[in-house]
Amino acid sequence: MSKELFAQRLKLAMEQSGQKQVDLVQAAAGRGIKLGKSHISQYVNGKTMPRQEILRFLASALQVEEAWLKGEETQSQPQKEKNTGGITMREFKKSSKLNHVLYDVRGPVVDEAARMEEAGTQILKLNIGNPAPFGFHAPDEVIYDMRRQLTECEGYSDAKGLFSARKAIMQYAQLKHIPNVSMEDIYTGNGVSELINLCMSALLDSGDEILIPSPDYPLWTACATLAGGTAVHYVCDEQAEWYPDMDDIKKKITDHTKAIVLINPNNPTGALYPKEVLEQIVEIAREHQLIIFSDEIYDRLVMDGAEHVSVASLAPDLFCVTFSGLSKSHMIAGYRIGWMILSGNKAMAKDYIEGLKMLSNMRLCSNVPAQSIVQTALGGYQSVENYIKPGGRIYEQRELVYNMMTSIPGVTAVKPKAAFYMFPKLDQNKFHITDDEKFALDLLRDKKILLIHGGGFHWQQPDHFRVVYLPRMEVLKEAVEKIGDFLSYYHQ
Ligand SMILES: Cc1ncc(COP(=O)(O)O)c(C=O)c1O
Repeated sequence: MSKELFAQRLKLAMEQSGQKQVDLVQAAAGRGIKLGKSHISQYVNGKTMPRQEILRFLASALQVEEAWLKGEETQSQPQKEKNTGGITMREFKKSSKLNHVLYDVRGPVVDEAARMEEAGTQILKLNIGNPAPFGFHAPDEVIYDMRRQLTECEGYSDAKGLFSARKAIMQYAQLKHIPNVSMEDIYTGNGVSELINLCMSALLDSGDEILIPSPDYPLWTACATLAGGTAVHYVCDEQAEWYPDMDDIKKKITDHTKAIVLINPNNPTGALYPKEVLEQIVEIAREHQLIIFSDEIYDRLVMDGAEHVSVASLAPDLFCVTFSGLSKSHMIAGYRIGWMILSGNKAMAKDYIEGLKMLSNMRLCSNVPAQSIVQTALGGYQSVENYIKPGGRIYEQRELVYNMMTSIPGVTAVKPKAAFYMFPKLDQNKFHITDDEKFALDLLRDKKILLIHGGGFHWQQPDHFRVVYLPRMEVLKEAVEKIGDFLSYYHQ
């Protein structure tokens, strides 16, 4: 039997039965069969074939003949097109460009949580860094100023953004010592998300490689892949405060490597990279003439008196793109406002910058009401500081989650220095976890807590998960107690 034909028929049978990978994983678990999402992905992508027992299970779950699924010609095969009363219905499939794109922050475990919620179950969602639902609100002044300007924001703005917004961002870049930045080098976006997508689309051709951290904020890998490039993951070292492993970066650079992505402060680890670490990365980027993309959306959520250093400030001779926004520091993730700053050696990226401009023009502009409060938000007193000092919500919630989580037998963690995430490790000798997505599903079903498994952040071993510590103390305490209880009996 051929892997390709099997993959094709499996996809068809899944589509026609309306079952997703997660449904099959669950159905298998229900029948005591060990089948992880990674296995199914491999089948669907034509990489491997299942064992007989799994094949039998798949055929039965998908209600197709085993022989047909295997790739044999049989009498009763599902039709590619459904016959609806004499008229053949055309079916539309998603683009194959999406086949290798993974974005689990809103993925299958989240779908299952949605199904449970629809059935009336209350779920505690620790899967996404969305401050507002946890009682974090925008500063009053931001709301007031947006209201006042709303009627002036009815039209499109300049494609890169309003003058006032870009001026404020330029001044912010000056405070961060980012070199060689003019108004023309600043682009606003509908969140950093849109700009990540734009940057990857404008840069990557098939065969181009880009270095992305593991674990990562998965949008980076998703956008690089969607753009046709190859995301090459370099390891961040848990033993060294989750800093990037320089030897691993060096090993993974090839003639096709165009750029390196840094996420600093980091999601999902909460790490903050000191200047010395950034200097080493710049050194490597310099040697290989790489573009540096630095996602610094958490740069104003740094604790313990530490200072955030923008890597671009250390690399005036390289081309850097620095990303930030107001989703996290001003708790207005829903307003959709972020920006990117091009800096350093722009001559080496002249043509690429033309591409960025073109894509920026094509989306006309970013959300104008949100742009209108950038100046208000970036100037004056930064209310986020109340949250990140001792006594503040983010600081105290971090203390609680770190202390409680690391008291659970078999769980260890590096204390986060910034943002509002922690990436704890599960002892493999104790829990024997081979499928971390199944771990997240089992926790969801048992304790009604939704979090994302390490694999969702392109972490290769099935031994981590991410906690978002935005909920209030009492909710967080109850959640970690429940996780502790779950881990007192759980193993795979
Ligand atoms: C590292 C990182 N970059 C970018 C984003 C997206 O931010 P935005 O709301 O500006 O699109 C997030 C959101 O969680 C993030 O964690």
